[in-house]
Amino acid sequence: MNETHSDAFVFFGATGDLAFKKIFPSLQAMAGRGHLNVPVIGIGRSAPDLAAFKDRARESLEKRGGVDPAAFDKLMGSLRYVRGDNSDPPTYAALRKQLNGAQRPAFYLAIPPTMFATVVEQLGKAGCAGPGARVIVEKPFGTDLVSAQKLNAILERVLGDAMAGDATLFAREDYVEEAWRIVDPVLKAGTPVFEYNPKTWGPTEVENVTPAGGWHNPVPNGC
Ligand SMILES: NC(=O)c1ccc[n+]([C@@H]2O[C@H](COP(=O)([O-])OP(=O)(O)OC[C@H]3O[C@@H](n4cnc5c(N)ncnc54)[C@H](OP(=O)(O)O)[C@@H]3O)[C@@H](O)[C@H]2O)c1
Repeated sequence: MNETHSDAFVFFGATGDLAFKKIFPSLQAMAGRGHLNVPVIGIGRSAPDLAAFKDRARESLEKRGGVDPAAFDKLMGSLRYVRGDNSDPPTYAALRKQLNGAQRPAFYLAIPPTMFATVVEQLGKAGCAGPGARVIVEKPFGTDLVSAQKLNAILERVLGDAMAGDATLFAREDYVEEAWRIVDPVLKAGTPVFEYNPKTWGPTEVENVTPAGGWHNPVPNGC
């Protein structure tokens, strides 16, 4: 594996028809050719656990092209499973654990097209999709030109912000939660809130501590 290769493969819709008919046979073929040397993480709801998910993979291969024992064992060794709803943040927290620090994960969205934007957004919020991530979406990409353009705009916006890692544009959910943990008691304690005029940094007291040259917006440092 070199630095252009993905270092984890994640497929949403892992319990669906497409996964059953096409994805498991393709993964086994890749494993057989020595091209699958990364963790393979499936996400779905209907398989209760990894054992049931592996059973489904075996059943798929038995019905679709046959089990190649060596390749199948390799695939089984790489397979991980996250059970969860695509709309729920805990799904992505569990995924992040399974990703185990992967820097260039490939996310394959074999799910209903209406869920594409939600999944991409949640990936960004959970900090799963950094600058090295790739996203592959199944067809159909919208149902006509207008809906395809709309979907494209959503993916570009959400993925652009998330993958650029620009925290000022796309705050990670755990960072927001942590900030809120600190701010919430202050607000609840009845701390007075000072309104201030547009284009100022606050009431006069704040202007008095303005550093030489004025305040500036933080510049993201890529962390
Ligand atoms: N099937 C094909 O031959 C084929 C061919 C070309 C393109 N496609 C495209 O591939 C995509 C998937 O099609 P499919 O036929 O595999 O559909 P499907 O059989 O209905 O499977 C959908 C998958 O998405 C999961 N899913 C749906 N909503 C979810 C949610 N809220 N949270 C978590 N998981 C959710 C389902 O999980 P659970 O079932 O576990 O709930 C299942 O794994 C679609 O975009 C379709 O247009 C399919």
